[in-house]
This record gives sequence, C-alpha cells and structure tokens, in this order.
Amino acid sequence: MGLAGESTNMDHVRLSDDGKYVVILDQSKLPSETEYRTLKSAEDIYEAIFRLRVRGAPAIGICAGYGMYCLAQTIHEEDYETFKSRFVEYGDYLNGSRPTAVNLSWAIKRMTAVVEGNSHKPVKDILPLLERECRAIHQEDIRMCRAISEFGLSLIKDGDGILTHCNAGPLATSRYGTALGPLILGKERGMEFHVFADETRPLLQGARLTAYELVKAGIDVTLICDNMAGTVMKNGWVSACFVGCDRVAANGDTANKIGTSVVAVLAKYYGIPFYVLGPTSTIDMECASGEDIEIEERDPDEIKKMFYQKPMALEEVKCYNPAFDVTDHSLISGIITEKGICRPPYEDSLKALFIPDPHQL
Ligand code: MRU
Repeated sequence: MGLAGESTNMDHVRLSDDGKYVVILDQSKLPSETEYRTLKSAEDIYEAIFRLRVRGAPAIGICAGYGMYCLAQTIHEEDYETFKSRFVEYGDYLNGSRPTAVNLSWAIKRMTAVVEGNSHKPVKDILPLLERECRAIHQEDIRMCRAISEFGLSLIKDGDGILTHCNAGPLATSRYGTALGPLILGKERGMEFHVFADETRPLLQGARLTAYELVKAGIDVTLICDNMAGTVMKNGWVSACFVGCDRVAANGDTANKIGTSVVAVLAKYYGIPFYVLGPTSTIDMECASGEDIEIEERDPDEIKKMFYQKPMALEEVKCYNPAFDVTDHSLISGIITEKGICRPPYEDSLKALFIPDPHQL
C-alpha cells in the first residue's frame, strides 16, 4: 500500500488473466491506497473514466480499447449486423463518459473499424481481431511514449529545473508518460532534474499523482500550489515547462488540464520555453482550432468539498468548474510527438506528421 512497492512504470490498465475484464489501478485512491479494480460491465468502465479512476488521455484510450473488446465478448449474437449495432451502441455509451480527450473516441473508432472491416467473417472470428487491436493500442502507446521521452530529453540538460502541470506520467499513459517521460528516461541514464509540480486544483493530479510518480522514480520534486508557478519562474528556477495534452487542434491550440494556459502565459512573460508533449493519437486534425474543442465541465463539489474535511465554500455559492483550458498555439514553443518535434507554424508541422512515410509502406 502507499508509496512503498512497485514502480508506476508498469501496466496499470490491462486485461484480466482470463481476458474478460479490464483491470485498472484506481488513480482516484492514490497516493494513500494502491487499489486495483476490475471493471466488469459497460457501466463500470464508464464510471471509472468519468470518476477519473483511470485518467490521462492515452490511458483513457487504452482502457476504452480493452473495454470494447471485453464488451464485445458479452454480445452473444451470431448475426453480424446485430452484433455490430450492439457494439456501436457500447462505443457511443463509453464515448459519452468524457468529451475532451480525443484518445477516447480515437480508440473506440479503431475498435469499431475492426468490426466494420470484417463484416464477411463469422462474429466468433472477429473477437480475436478485437483482442489483437486493443493490445496493439497499448503496445503502440508504450513505443510512442518512449519515443516522445527521447525527443523531449534532447531539449533539456542535466541539472535543469522543469515545471509541469497536472499529471502526464506513466499513470496517465502506458509507460514513461509524455511530459514526465523525458525526466524518467533521463534519470534512468544518470541525469538529475529538479521538477516543480503544480498541485493542479481542483482534483490535485499534480500533488496526488505527479509528485507520487516522481518520488517513486527517485527524481527531485518540489510540490507547489498552482499560484506559485510565477514565483519559481521569476526566481530563475525553471528552464522549461513540460505539459501533456488532451486534444491538439490542427493549428496547434492545445486543450490540457485547467490552468495549463496560465502556465503558458507566465512562461512567455519570463522567456521560458513551453513544450506540449503528446502522441499523434492526441492530435485531432478535424478540429481546426481550440474553438472547436469541447471542454468538459464538472461537479462544483469538486471545488467546494471533495478534498476537504468540511465544505470550504457556502453550499449555495455558484461555481464554474471546467476541467480543461486551451493554450493558444502562439504560446507553445514546440509540440513533441513520437514522430519528432513540431515547431510553428503548426498548421504545416502537424499536417506533415500525417503524411504517410513511403519507407514504412
Ligand atoms: O482530467 P484528467 O486528469 O484526465 O486530465 C489529464 C490531463 O490534462 C493530462 O495532462 C493529459 O491527459 C495528458 S496525459 C499524458
């Protein structure tokens, strides 16, 4: 239990041994309890995503992939069309659990494409293909995070101070993470960094998860309140900001945890490079700009009472609790993907990521 025990750099979203259920490390219980949870129904999977038991854009995508495979096994139908329509219904249901992270719909679309592309096969023969696809989504994320970590590491040097917001480490992905990946990889290679982790109000992903992961990885981390970011920047302690992303629009505007855009504005003021790190599965070329990104709004009680022993605001006070904000592309120094580092103008550099590489065809 607690901080002692396994590293977070392992499979915390996976299939159960019999392949029927999704097993997750319940992130909502961290850091005080290390509790795995078995998700047995569509409602369990929906609830786990909605309640942030599994969270972080890539981890949500991995969970949705495994979830769709598990749900497919519960559809006892030999008729292809009936099977497909029930599968699509499950996909639509899970897709409604959280709107902003594109990896959720991306993974569901990938799984649905397997069903649609094999309409000529008996339903029982589609199941192994779905299993292969969800396992591939997970394995690809491991490779993508590793590549992002390498590219990110090329931007920093031994001894640097890095500020991060929210949690974009192994828990939010598969291994290494995106924003924390370069730091964990660098540490494995003997480098030392000093990380400032914003606590990330209201759900405290920075305090509960980022600080936890970095302590476990043996990386020097200082937890700060969100409103202290300007002070540590002014003090000259921050060489770069590394953050994750939930959806990157075609022009580079980036949705990430609420407060990310504030960090970006501060970084610009203090002349500190601000990098977004994420896999290409988080880039949504169908979104022209941040204006097109749907921002999730959450329960006011997350602000007023969730982490307090007593309510910290009057019951009747109005709250506004958007889970994400959009950082304008003009504030972003680079977007680091598994395929390389994109620089402005992002319309061009992001588009280039999706041009098929003739060597890989
Ligand atoms: O609401 P959350 O905790 O799911 O928000 C997560 C973030 O904003 C992360 O920074 C993002 O998903 C990237 S995770 C690699």
